[in-house]
Amino acid sequence: MKPIEIRPGIYWVGVNDQTTDLFEGLWPVRKEGVSYNSYLILDEKKVIIDLIKPIKTEEYLIGLESIIPLKEIDYIILNHLEPDHAGLLMTFSQLAPQAKFLGTAKASELISKFLKVKEENRFQIVKDGEILHLGEKSLQFFSTPFVHWPETMMTYEKSTKILFSCDAFGGFGAIHGRIFNDEIDSLEFYEQEALRYYVNIVANYSQRVISAIDKLTTLPVEIIAPSHGLIWRKSPERIVGLYKKWASYASGPVEKGITLIYGSMYGFTESLTDAVAKGIARTGIKYCLFDGARTHVSYILPSLWTMEGVIIGAPTYEVKLFPPVAAILEMARHKRIFGRKAGYFGSYGWSGGALKDFKGLADELKWKVTHTLEVQGMPDKDDLARAEEWGEQFASSLIKTCS
Ligand SMILES: Cc1cc2nc3c(=O)[nH]c(=O)nc-3n(C[C@H](O)[C@H](O)[C@H](O)COP(=O)(O)O)c2cc1C
Ligand SMILES: [Fe+2]
Ligand SMILES: [Fe+2]
Repeated sequence: MKPIEIRPGIYWVGVNDQTTDLFEGLWPVRKEGVSYNSYLILDEKKVIIDLIKPIKTEEYLIGLESIIPLKEIDYIILNHLEPDHAGLLMTFSQLAPQAKFLGTAKASELISKFLKVKEENRFQIVKDGEILHLGEKSLQFFSTPFVHWPETMMTYEKSTKILFSCDAFGGFGAIHGRIFNDEIDSLEFYEQEALRYYVNIVANYSQRVISAIDKLTTLPVEIIAPSHGLIWRKSPERIVGLYKKWASYASGPVEKGITLIYGSMYGFTESLTDAVAKGIARTGIKYCLFDGARTHVSYILPSLWTMEGVIIGAPTYEVKLFPPVAAILEMARHKRIFGRKAGYFGSYGWSGGALKDFKGLADELKWKVTHTLEVQGMPDKDDLARAEEWGEQFASSLIKTCS
């Protein structure tokens, strides 16, 4: 895509990625796409803020060169050294021979140890709060460790009040032509994808996100320009507010609602799932239903992250919880989705074992298991009626608790 001017002399020069299947080798983005946003600032000094993942390198270089020859670049700001932003650094050390690389002290260490770019003499450490004058414009750097890696920082352009926030306030979802939030008719897709990105990528560092937001709270920001997804030109406080809310879910109250995850080999637990869902629906409480064996955990985590209740419906498999569902709980543990109110139901053949296994996993997750229901083999009509009642009771117990 051609560069787009954000403010006079400040350009978006990113690329869309519609071919990578898995972001970080783990999270599906093939359908939604993802953008690597890079920015160019022209003043007396010429600056690139963040590079891109080494895909579409030619498109990226042609875009940059359409505005300025790369050999005239004075600074390359490295907000973050993850290869989706700094993967082209080796290339740029050749193409922009004058350019100094700017980053935090931690970045100066990682540039050679992690990226193996042996250009220490071209690296300039910037301190927290330091200002770099470019001419009419000036950049201020804010260290924001662990949003997303230890070396991460954000860059603020003072005259235009643009915050280049890197991974923070980013989201999945390619940006095709329309790169600003105020150009999008319905933001639902991008906000949902920002949540999925948040929970998949950033959530483990929620406390650091809160610290970063608190630190920058007095900074007058007119535009938030992250390194993935939309640029928030209108009401940037919207994305900051969402990030703040999602970060608060790591330790504070979450939303009313139930994540209902099921798995089933022969359809018995699936029949129970339908009945349980019917019972929940009677209460009117929000619920999201997932087939745990067929839905990538990336899409389930946002629901688990944001909602208070979780019901697991899974049969016994070799004395344990049905493995695809157990794997989701393992990822929830990794993402520290703790303190939920939980229920379990499932079908077993002869001895069971899934419930015991689930209780052990729930313990590790600090989930309070309030309701359980086991059925041997194929559920009959009484079992289904019981399951419906059970679903309603679980949902009602959530509605009654106040938080
Ligand atoms: C590979 C496999 C392993 C199983 N292991 C056990 C087991 O260890 N204990 C048990 O009680 N039932 C076991 N079962 C029986 C299932 O739990 C039972 O068929 C259940 O009704 C399946 O429910 P579903 O139709 O929802 O998959 C196993 C079934 C299969 C296919
Ligand atoms: Fe990152
Ligand atoms: Fe990133």
